Amino acid sequence: MRKTILITGGAGFIGSHVVRLFVKKYPDYNIINLDKLTYAGNLENLKDIENADNYFFEKGDINDPVFVSGFFQKHLFDGVIHLAAESHVDRSILAPMDFINTNIIGTVNLLNSSREIWAGNMQEKRFYHISTDEVFGSLGKDGSFTETTPYDPRSPYSASKASSDHLVRAYFHTYNLPIVISNCSNNYGPYQFPEKLIPLSINNILNQKQIPVYGKGENIRDWLYVEDHAKAIDLIFHQGENGETYNVGGNNEWKNIDLIQKLCRIMDKKLNRTPGASEKLITFVKDRAGHDLRYAIDSSKIRKELKWVPLVDFEKGLKLTAEWYLQNKEWLNNVISGEYEKYYDDQYLKR
Ligand code: NAD
Ligand code: DAU
Repeated sequence: MRKTILITGGAGFIGSHVVRLFVKKYPDYNIINLDKLTYAGNLENLKDIENADNYFFEKGDINDPVFVSGFFQKHLFDGVIHLAAESHVDRSILAPMDFINTNIIGTVNLLNSSREIWAGNMQEKRFYHISTDEVFGSLGKDGSFTETTPYDPRSPYSASKASSDHLVRAYFHTYNLPIVISNCSNNYGPYQFPEKLIPLSINNILNQKQIPVYGKGENIRDWLYVEDHAKAIDLIFHQGENGETYNVGGNNEWKNIDLIQKLCRIMDKKLNRTPGASEKLITFVKDRAGHDLRYAIDSSKIRKELKWVPLVDFEKGLKLTAEWYLQNKEWLNNVISGEYEKYYDDQYLKR
């Protein structure tokens, strides 16, 4: 019997890398990608595998319980890898309700439908919820988040993800739903929507626009190349323990300002610009409300138990990423038209 795996949010940034990995690595699985195609969802991200025999796409909204229930009854999935979400912190500050609906209610709709189709037979089934390190809140200068760090979310985005994590765990304890959760640090790489720091900066450098750095650029994030995250997801989905949580991170902390300066140097070289030209675009702007100072992940559990190691170092990953955006200007230009312009004005020009 072929396994049928549902991947939600597969047309987004991380989801598209996970879909690609699974479609190529598991020809015996049917991979079904369910995505609403919000501003962040883009089927262009999957052009190279869209005709594969084991890949199917369905446009649909996880917030619609009737649709979700019917969809699960039709496909009787063996596993669910849940990435669909509203994912950008700044948008959650501008308009929180989409985050509450998709990240919390949407997740519960998927949990309910999984329970329905797996009732009486949970053997070899799996509901895998992809979450974020932001649920743990903000670190000071030292320490890192472990799987047992208490939750302390501070933005509507992270609070909605924390809420969904709690609900996923509640379905494990209450209904024995075979769940697993991972909390990952900041991802970067090809196909990331240019609202996030790295692709936004690449796009602005390309177009000789200001690079907006919040506050003094002192905030620290722990960066992981997206393909290394996709590989961790594969391992956790297949080898993780029911009810467990795994922290995933790059052990790669960067102060925002240092990261942007490094990116500027890479871009100057690739664009044959005078050294220092892109750095002149750096502009310090009003800080993000409730801006978490520092994230850092202790990923020793997944490294030890599942033998996961990130393979792409930051120097290489950042160069690969810059290169990809330079070679895919059409992709970039398509996603920065329309809705993006309005968002950019609201976020950066009207504040
Ligand atoms: P993204 O915003 O690029 O993609 C989200 C996808 O979900 C889009 O394709 C969108 O169309 C889809 N979607 C949104 N609402 C939907 C709905 N109601 N129904 C169906 N589909 C819907 O996000 P991403 O950066 O790829 O993140 C994916 C997941 O990983 C999220 O759950 C996020 O919280 C988590 N995560 C992201 C990062 C990161 O650095 N990007 C790090 C850790 C965890
Ligand atoms: O830590 C995991 C999280 O990483 C994921 O859960 C989120 O989905 C993902 O968006 C990301 O959240 P961040 O808020 O850390 O990412 P972002 O790229 O928005 O910002 C990274 C840092 O850069 C943060 O300190 C804010 C800062 N920043 C961001 C933007 C967009 C700027 O200084 N200027 C900007 O224009």
